Amino acid sequence: MPSVFSSPNPILFGRGAAAVVGDKLREFGCSRVLVVYDKGVEAAGVAATILGHLHAAHIQTVCFDGVLPDPPDTTVDQAGALGVAEGVDGIVGVGGGSSLDTAKGACLLLTNPGPIGRYYARPDAPPPAGLQPLKPIVVIPTTSGTGSEATPGGVITDTQNHRKQIIICPVSLAIVDPELTVGLPSAITAATAFDALCHAAEALTSAAPNAFGRVLGKEAITLISRALPLAYDDGGDIEAREQLQLAATLAAMSILGPFCHIPHELGQPLGSLFGIPHGLACAATLAESMRFVAPGVPEQVRLVAECMGPALSPGATADQVGQAAYGRIYDLRERVELPSLASFVPDKQQLLAAVPHICQVSPFVFSPVAVRPSDVTTILEQAYAGRVESAVAP
Ligand SMILES: [Fe+2]
Repeated sequence: MPSVFSSPNPILFGRGAAAVVGDKLREFGCSRVLVVYDKGVEAAGVAATILGHLHAAHIQTVCFDGVLPDPPDTTVDQAGALGVAEGVDGIVGVGGGSSLDTAKGACLLLTNPGPIGRYYARPDAPPPAGLQPLKPIVVIPTTSGTGSEATPGGVITDTQNHRKQIIICPVSLAIVDPELTVGLPSAITAATAFDALCHAAEALTSAAPNAFGRVLGKEAITLISRALPLAYDDGGDIEAREQLQLAATLAAMSILGPFCHIPHELGQPLGSLFGIPHGLACAATLAESMRFVAPGVPEQVRLVAECMGPALSPGATADQVGQAAYGRIYDLRERVELPSLASFVPDKQQLLAAVPHICQVSPFVFSPVAVRPSDVTTILEQAYAGRVESAVAP
């Protein structure tokens, strides 16, 4: 089937790349920028490093350090208003996906009237018409997970309806510098890498497969499977950090067309309802979701499994392929001590009571297998129970 792959943002990749952020902004004609980050980035000293690079290039800075997880629309409005009031001519987003997405939203509001809710879009639709030209925006990820640096999209929480919404803000330049992730705690390294793993696995098994996404997703899964245990054990392993940064960016590019399905469509409402960090919420059902879709797309699920381990038997049945993917995902989960779904939601009935809401906000359009409410209940029950070995050998 013909498929479209949208070219990603310009990306400057490599160790030490962040040092040129000021020079790049000068090339864009900027002299005074809004720098958007959160308290964690500030505490880690990364914000100071970036501000130092900017000041060295004689770029004036205005700081917004109020980024929150699952960025609320209200925070984006505050950041945008600060940028307008201070007369900035560009934006730099530094941090995880929340910082980068807040920066994208603030960028829209520098030249377009707020609130940000005016600019919600669909992932497979063009940006809202009539936008005024945007100021330059540079994004600098400090985690290896969401891959927001690789896409024009951002995810904002609509605080009135408790829903995740998409915004579209083309990025002038993404600077991906693995050295910025060296100090990332091991638990955050694992959680964010699993977000990237979900992106790639969902891209490979999407109902709208894409030849480009397939190549990118396969490489991302292979890199994560190899590098995540190394970076988890030794945060200073720069080779592993570099591979994870590359993998996260590739994984985000892999879903530019196939789009995410069950793990993200369950993970996003679960994250909102129960306060589960995005990567962990999506990872919570990845193994069960791969096993669920295996009967519909056994060859795609085989790719996921084989990127995470040895080749499977050519004659493996769909059930065996699904079980192999399930087992290998659990192996990696356990290797990096990923918290269970039950650790976030002590009451299983509370979890299952969320199924009607989840089915209301998640259409599962890109799942390769039809998803009924009873399937959502089953997947959540299985994920809640944790790993259960099957009699079906891969
Ligand atoms: Fe994600």
